[in-house]
Amino acid sequence: MDASDRVVLKCIDCGREYQPIDVYECECGGLLDAHINLDWAGSVVSKALFDKRLGSREKILRSGIWRYKELVNPMADDLCIITRPEGNTGLYENKRLLAYTGLSSVMLKHEGENPTGSFKDRGMSPGVSEAVRLRMKVVACASTGNTSASMAAYASMAGLKPVVFIPEGKIAYGKLAQALAYGSKVIQVRGNFDDAMKLVRESSRKLGMYLLNSVNPWRIEGQKTIMIELMHQLSWNQPDWVCVPAGNLGNTSAFGKALEELKALGFIEKMPRIASIQADGANPFYLLWKKKAGSLTAVEHPDTIATAIKIGNPVSWKKALRSINATNGVVEQVSDQEIMDAKAIIDGCGICCEPASAASLAGARKLVKSGVIKRDESVVCVITGNILKDPEATVKYHLSELEGITPKYANAPTVIDSRLEEVERAINAP
Ligand SMILES: Cc1ncc(COP(=O)(O)O)c(C=O)c1O
Ligand SMILES: [Zn+2]
Repeated sequence: MDASDRVVLKCIDCGREYQPIDVYECECGGLLDAHINLDWAGSVVSKALFDKRLGSREKILRSGIWRYKELVNPMADDLCIITRPEGNTGLYENKRLLAYTGLSSVMLKHEGENPTGSFKDRGMSPGVSEAVRLRMKVVACASTGNTSASMAAYASMAGLKPVVFIPEGKIAYGKLAQALAYGSKVIQVRGNFDDAMKLVRESSRKLGMYLLNSVNPWRIEGQKTIMIELMHQLSWNQPDWVCVPAGNLGNTSAFGKALEELKALGFIEKMPRIASIQADGANPFYLLWKKKAGSLTAVEHPDTIATAIKIGNPVSWKKALRSINATNGVVEQVSDQEIMDAKAIIDGCGICCEPASAASLAGARKLVKSGVIKRDESVVCVITGNILKDPEATVKYHLSELEGITPKYANAPTVIDSRLEEVERAINAP
């Protein structure tokens, strides 16, 4: 079989097909899906092959993305692959998580353990590798912070020029620091993420930059490996539910696609149900799902402390809806109070995350309370980013300095005079 028969890009709106060359969206403006030829994939991959690769010393196969390369990009050229390597992220359990959610089985899969501190590396490694294969020179993205940090790192490693569009003054400092430090051209757009997204799409078309937001199908293909690796870690025994924070909806889209493919290939028997969790101040996907509306109405002024998911007009909503429908999933919303309290629980277990990540656990708890998730069902919550991305939100929570939030689990520092008795008193205080 010719390499080009292994994958084709197909528009989810008009059905037009493209060969995987310099194209990431359809002429009609629709999103493209990478259709992997599953007959071919099924003839080359197996559980035994993936197990064997787990012990490999080869850089590419050590990556939790490229270990599954036939299911990510069958056209990828090993010589063009830019990898750190990524993935191999931890799966954590803790008694406090059980008490907090009321579940008998809940695990956190920590995507903040990726090289630049978020799940974005899962999509960026295949995205930048494809840019290298296509001999692109300039790559671009709009970002609430983590995408820009990841793209800047991978593009700089590959010798490409990264150009990032960020909403001015609205991204967490840890992420801005990374984008600057990794040498990208940082363009601060006066406006919110949705304005930056619109501008980068237009600029990329006009100025010949290769767009690496999740409209690019290779980003979604890479992010599928969060699910593939998770199932592999669980010896291909699927949990009942996977909860995921939802902003631009790339992960929700990728998870459903991965699960459908794994099921078609016979790796899993049943698909877990996806619960996609939004912040209630940035909830267009929740509203669409709740109202069973035919199309998404953008939220004009999205607002949440979880800046990574402060998005009012998510580009991947059609693909995400397909994932929810395919897995009999649900969409839920949680308040900033619930997000920050769930984060304090995760942090207090020593696992730690940035605010948006905690939406998954907050959502799981809410869905258990409302009876949608049964207490005896098994749940995996995906944690999307590292705690050090946004230390300000963490410190302000514990100092009770976050407007509108009453921290249930505050752990403020104790100030003392420099005397032994005071140390004793401080240590013995509740
Ligand atoms: C930490 C974190 N969590 C969640 C999200 C939202 O992910 P998605 O756009 O795939 O819904 C983002 C996106 O920037 C993020 O950085
Ligand atoms: Zn089209």
